[in-house]
Amino acid sequence: MPTDSPPVISDAVARAIEAHRERPGALLPILHQIQDSLGYVPPSSVPGIAEALNLSRAEVHGVISFYHDFRETPAGRHVVKICRAESCQAVGAEQLVEHACRTLGVEFHGTTVDGAITLEPVYCLGNCALSPALQVGDAVYGRMTPKGFDRLAADLRKGR
Ligand code: FES
Repeated sequence: MPTDSPPVISDAVARAIEAHRERPGALLPILHQIQDSLGYVPPSSVPGIAEALNLSRAEVHGVISFYHDFRETPAGRHVVKICRAESCQAVGAEQLVEHACRTLGVEFHGTTVDGAITLEPVYCLGNCALSPALQVGDAVYGRMTPKGFDRLAADLRKGR
C-alpha cells in the first residue's frame, strides 16, 4: 500500500504517538518516527498529534516547518543531498547547487516533476578530502562536477 494512503498514514501516526506520548518533549520523536515510517510528515497527521500532546495545531505545524529535516510531501524516488559545508563550498559547491537546481527545475526540498529526484542540502558528509560531495541513499560521491551531476541524475532517472 502506498505511504500516502489514509490507512497507512493513520496507522503510522497512531504507532508514533503511542510510542512517545508519555516522554517529555514527545513531539520531535513522534515526528521523526512518522517521517521514518512514511518518508514524510503528512499535514493530515497534525490534528491527531496536537490533540494527543495537548498542543495547538499551529504549534505542531510550527515545529514541522522550523526543522528542514521534516518533509510535508512524499520525497521523490531518490533523494540527492548536496553538501554545502565549508570544504565543499571552497571548491565549487555553490556552482554545483546552482547547476543542480537549474537542470532539475527545483529548489532545495523540491522534487522534480517526474517524481524521480528530491534535492536536499546537507552539512558535511565526512568526505571533505573529495569535495564537492553529495549523497544519494547510502552512496557518497566526491569531486562532483556539473557534468558528473548530469550523468548521475540521468542514471537515477533510469533507475540505476
Ligand atoms: S564539507 Fe562537504 S563533505 Fe565535508
